[in-house]
Amino acid sequence: MTSPIKFSNGATYERFMGIWSQKVGHAFLDWLAPPEGAHWLDVGCGNGAFTELLVERCSPSAIEGIDPSGPQLAFAQERPALRSAVFQQGDAMALPYADNSVDAAVMPLVIFFVPDPALGVTEMVRVVRAGGSVSAYAWDMPGGGFPYALLQSALRECGVEVPVPPSAQVSSLASLTALWSAAGLQEVATHTITVERTFADFEDYWTTVQGGPSVSGALASLGAEAAGALQSTVRARLPVADDGSITLSARANAVKGRVPV
Ligand SMILES: C[S@@+](CC[C@H](N)C(=O)[O-])C[C@H]1O[C@@H](n2cnc3c(N)ncnc32)[C@H](O)[C@@H]1O
Repeated sequence: MTSPIKFSNGATYERFMGIWSQKVGHAFLDWLAPPEGAHWLDVGCGNGAFTELLVERCSPSAIEGIDPSGPQLAFAQERPALRSAVFQQGDAMALPYADNSVDAAVMPLVIFFVPDPALGVTEMVRVVRAGGSVSAYAWDMPGGGFPYALLQSALRECGVEVPVPPSAQVSSLASLTALWSAAGLQEVATHTITVERTFADFEDYWTTVQGGPSVSGALASLGAEAAGALQSTVRARLPVADDGSITLSARANAVKGRVPV
């Protein structure tokens, strides 16, 4: 099954998810502690939110990114930090790279979008050299860790169908461990990352979610009256501070392993 969630705008993605992506990406790199100077492949690089962190923090010798979305890649290519990165359009399940051609492959916030996650992991193992690193992190969808889970619940209560990624269940720690072990990776380890983000006020939150690939269609399908009622429900449930700001937390599960030597 392919995902009904379409990534068609790199700029609105940046505001909706890119900010979250970089927050969790920093914590992920703290845990992964990769060596500098590696040749990286960012699978499902999207608009380059995490690719940018790799350049800033890991001084890669080379960096490549692949994603099926043209608009996401166009945004990635415009990031000043990513001028030397090489991007191409493609799918995690059929990586257009030679065997043993990179030192490290990573799937940041992507594995739940891959229809056959096991094939995606096998492909990363194929292109990473012996001794290299294969890693990923994903919102803990089954455990309610998605940053906009509260909004999604409110939409569903209104009877609106909210699309879910095709492999949402794969992001539990147990599933990630099983996938990495089944792919023959060694030194498999997992880690849970919790991050927070503050929206200036409800307006900031509401305009941000309008651009979200997983909720914008659902929001647009509501009539004016239902949209107003939903807005009131969501506002009442959000943790609005005295100064009007809203701080939300989200949780991701990370996994890493090493290609056998
Ligand atoms: C939530 S975004 C993550 C983007 C980026 N990695 C980040 O951390 O911000 C998910 C990305 O997965 C991509 N994607 C969806 N299906 C894919 C597939 N089968 N293979 C590779 N990437 C895929 C989407 O186009 C989108 O850019």
